[in-house]
Amino acid sequence: SRTLDLAVIAGDGIGPEVIAEAVKVLRVAVPSDTKVETTDYPFSAAHYLSTGVILGDDDLESLRGHDAILLGAVGGDPRDPRLAGGIIERGLLLKLRFAFDHYVNLRPTLTLPGVQSPLRDPGAVDFVVVREGTEGPYAGTGGSIRTGTPHEIASEVSVNTAYGVERVVRFAFAQAEARRRKLTLVHKTNVMTYAGSLWQRTVDAVALEHPDVEVGYQHVDAATIHLVTNPSRFDVIVTDNLFGDIITDLAAAISGGIGLAASGNINPDGTFPSMFEPVHGSAPDIAGKQLADPTAAILSVALLLSQQGYPEVAERVTAAVTADLAARGAQTRSTTAIGDDIAGLLARA
Ligand code: NAD
Ligand code: IPM
Ligand code: MN
Repeated sequence: SRTLDLAVIAGDGIGPEVIAEAVKVLRVAVPSDTKVETTDYPFSAAHYLSTGVILGDDDLESLRGHDAILLGAVGGDPRDPRLAGGIIERGLLLKLRFAFDHYVNLRPTLTLPGVQSPLRDPGAVDFVVVREGTEGPYAGTGGSIRTGTPHEIASEVSVNTAYGVERVVRFAFAQAEARRRKLTLVHKTNVMTYAGSLWQRTVDAVALEHPDVEVGYQHVDAATIHLVTNPSRFDVIVTDNLFGDIITDLAAAISGGIGLAASGNINPDGTFPSMFEPVHGSAPDIAGKQLADPTAAILSVALLLSQQGYPEVAERVTAAVTADLAARGAQTRSTTAIGDDIAGLLARA
């Protein structure tokens, strides 16, 4: 028997709504000899506004003690000046990804039966974006001088280390080996001269160790075309932090909606807990109305289970989601009803 010890950060907006369903499904899914223990942490924009605390070093220390982290979404009212400049996003979400060295941000895209894609004929879409998670333009390097004057100069530096690029590229090749053996580097080497060159050279070098993997390259702008016109051509995409952010929202949209897209922020070395979260945000426009689709959060639980050594249970969760979508995908259901339906399928399985 085993205890699965999870930290749960439900967050803001629809975060708590989708996390309630994800935890519900997780509890039904695990085998009877596994005890799920969850510890709720209040970190969120709302918590910051009421306490002044975003995420302290002692908080990081206690989060670190868990097997994994499940996160809903964070982010408050975009018009609130107290939250301007992404203070929560950087102080909470990015802080966790950086502190726990989540250098792989794994974002699978799959067309599921019964789900309506906005594309007329998407074909069988099944690819995974391996998004670098700790560097690039997210590094926080840069600044502004003469701020607020007509002479302001603002910069945001993309930081790419040989170490950081190589480890994520190696992870992506390993994914390709376990899948259909196609890897596409997505970057912007025609403009991002230095970073692009490092990424391309790294991919070329690691490719020599994987002669069976077909390696390709696309500029990120062209990649958005192919993602819409022929998404089934992709297997593994490896890309930098910002390009990965952008193309995974697009990927979610083509697969049938942001409410279906799961992700794992993974520390493959196992030094720190990995963190699983839907790709979407706190969706203030629909929060509190039971309108959010919890499927993305539930599929994030599947990724968590797989990473935590329960690949068969993860498969069962994914199968239940697939069955649920096939049966009632087009039906309008509340957040809770979708969670109940999926949990019900698992309980009967
Ligand atoms: P968003 O993903 O919250 O919303 C984009 C659109 O998708 C909205 O129309 C929303 O209603 C819809 N949507 C999102 N999730 C859905 C779901 N589960 N079911 C149905 N519809 C869904 O993106 P945004 O509006 O750009 O960001 C809102 C806030 O969330 C911002 O503060 C942003 O920084 C934050 N954010 C947080 C995370 C995270 O915590 N991981 C991720 C993305 C954005
Ligand atoms: C995501 C989000 C985050 C990102 C934001 C909220 C910092 O958009 O997880 O995709 O840009 O990585
Ligand atoms: Mn995003």
